[in-house]
Amino acid sequence: MELYILSALAIIAILIIINVIASIFAMIKGAPYVPTSRKHMLTMLELAQITKEDLVMDLGSGDGKFLIESAKKGALAIGYEINPLLVILANLRARLTKTPGTSQTKLQNMWSADLSKATVVFLYAFGSIMTDLETKLQKELPEGARVISHVFTFPNWIPQKTIGSANLYVKNSSDYQSPQQTHL
Ligand SMILES: C[S@@+](CC[C@H](N)C(=O)[O-])C[C@H]1O[C@@H](n2cnc3c(N)ncnc32)[C@H](O)[C@@H]1O
Repeated sequence: MELYILSALAIIAILIIINVIASIFAMIKGAPYVPTSRKHMLTMLELAQITKEDLVMDLGSGDGKFLIESAKKGALAIGYEINPLLVILANLRARLTKTPGTSQTKLQNMWSADLSKATVVFLYAFGSIMTDLETKLQKELPEGARVISHVFTFPNWIPQKTIGSANLYVKNSSDYQSPQQTHL
């Protein structure tokens, strides 16, 4: 009996250590885990207008709820997450939820994600990395791609629509002024 208790405690300790290390890594490489509330998620989904034609990406996808909701609308949804425990949780949730589309979370740094085929991107990143994210999204996304950011805005990219804390951006040349153009 004591062995069972010790084993359970050891497993819990290992999970806590993994979570602490992953959280520190997340803070250094992007943003800590702060889940978007359901109310705010629904507003972001309303702005995204997802269809079954969409390839949705969530950069820092947490528990995967945006991916599942996107797959419910028939889309293919891919999440990038660096916390392995959240990756397991998100993929488990995806397996347990029947959806017409498919959702999958990858254990991968979002900075190495290829966004060239994404038509919708969800973000809840923190202010300090919005400049670098803006550069990556502007470089890699196809024209017409929608980006929905919770709370945080980009320095040079003008949102097409804002509802509460949800900002919708659409990739096209006219609503983005590169930093060089700004200073001309
Ligand atoms: C603010 S939370 C948002 C979670 C989820 N998207 C939501 O809105 O509920 C940010 C997430 O990004 C993850 N993250 C931080 N840096 C990352 C990186 N470089 N690559 C992938 N995921 C990252 C964190 O582990 C965390 O789960």
